[in-house]
Amino acid sequence: MRAVDIIMNKRAGKELSREELTFLIGGYVAGEIPDYQVSAWAMAVFFQGMTAAETAVLTELMLNSGARMDLSGIDGPFVDKHSTGGVGDKTSLILAPIVASLGIKDPMMSGRALGHTGGTLDKLDAIPGYRTQLEPAEFRRILAKDGFAMTGQTRDIVPADRLLYALRDVTGTVESIPLITASILSKKVAEGADALVFDVKFGSGAFMKDLADGERLARSLVDTGTAMGKRIIALLTDMNEPLGNMMGNFLEVEESFDCLEGRGPADLMEVTLELAARMVMLGGKAQTAAGGRALCEEALAGGKPRTLFLANIESQGGDVKKFLDLRGVYRSPVSAEIRAEKSGYLSRIDAWKVGHAGVDLGVGRNRTEDAVSPTAGVQFHRKGGDIVTAGDLIMNVWARDEAGLAAALPQLREAVEYGAPAKRKLVMEAEHQ
Ligand code: URA
Repeated sequence: MRAVDIIMNKRAGKELSREELTFLIGGYVAGEIPDYQVSAWAMAVFFQGMTAAETAVLTELMLNSGARMDLSGIDGPFVDKHSTGGVGDKTSLILAPIVASLGIKDPMMSGRALGHTGGTLDKLDAIPGYRTQLEPAEFRRILAKDGFAMTGQTRDIVPADRLLYALRDVTGTVESIPLITASILSKKVAEGADALVFDVKFGSGAFMKDLADGERLARSLVDTGTAMGKRIIALLTDMNEPLGNMMGNFLEVEESFDCLEGRGPADLMEVTLELAARMVMLGGKAQTAAGGRALCEEALAGGKPRTLFLANIESQGGDVKKFLDLRGVYRSPVSAEIRAEKSGYLSRIDAWKVGHAGVDLGVGRNRTEDAVSPTAGVQFHRKGGDIVTAGDLIMNVWARDEAGLAAALPQLREAVEYGAPAKRKLVMEAEHQ
């Protein structure tokens, strides 16, 4: 078998056999098939797609490329949530302590910012002392104690995704439904959750730009995950505007904590609570999503999620006092303001442009090895649907350096759209659930 024949078969739109996919993925992980051939194959998949059967085989091969997290000996239920990627998307930080306070264990294995989307691990790393690379034994201990633990992928877990995702990110092949399905599900099955809630984002700031593609991705995740024996719910959520009022690493941790203290912005709370409600349902603590949501709201009002959030900071090596003291002041000294250029309605703040500006500010990265800034980011004072008067403050902007600020500001100005606000439905059930 030769890699070039597999690439040409996919380029011609043929369904690849299990043997072909095994040869390709196995050879790539073993270092026998070079990046350039796997890139060409990924581009062929991007254009030709994959059948459901091929997607299932690819997911299984990626999953079996490494070890799985062993959660034996810890009481479940184990339920996790995964987002397909967005801007200002910090729901994981908020919902993990909420569902943990209701007796659900959330073994959360997350990623870093890549492309224009943010990463949970980079946000958590902004907390002084917090460690996001946990050994399996430590991950288990913290999960059992706090009800949730947050870690990055280890070298042993799904190495095929670690290699493939980094390659896709720099070869224009991220936005492929089968490749996203296999990437996400292989990681999520490896981490040991019994049930999963997917936050499938659609809109300018998502990988799926419209609702129809979002629905296709949701169906692919649900069908493939169900075939692997997992209970799955997918929600479709709007990512045309950044979620919440903060975009940036420490800024988003700070806003997550605000949510746990009852001061969360409405859009962020809505998406978080709808996702958490499904996790509670899948964990068997409520019969309906409405019942799950009521439990989450009750838990928030009781304050236990806030306590668990701080307990987790301590468990993962973070300095709780420093974290609390840094709120409101841990900002880069290189800063600017964006003010309204005219009076009238803001129709939206474009998440795509904000996400790209975020990379220049230092929130995200262009290459996997780049470092991110904890203190760069944007605070939004106005968003779509608000009425502004010329000169009103719309954004505070913080950058790692002057060059980053200069590159980001025109994009952020352009992100502000004026006019009649479009009607947006923030959260939708995926119809096939
Ligand atoms: N998130 C992932 O983990 N993988 C993808 O391919 C896209 C989003």
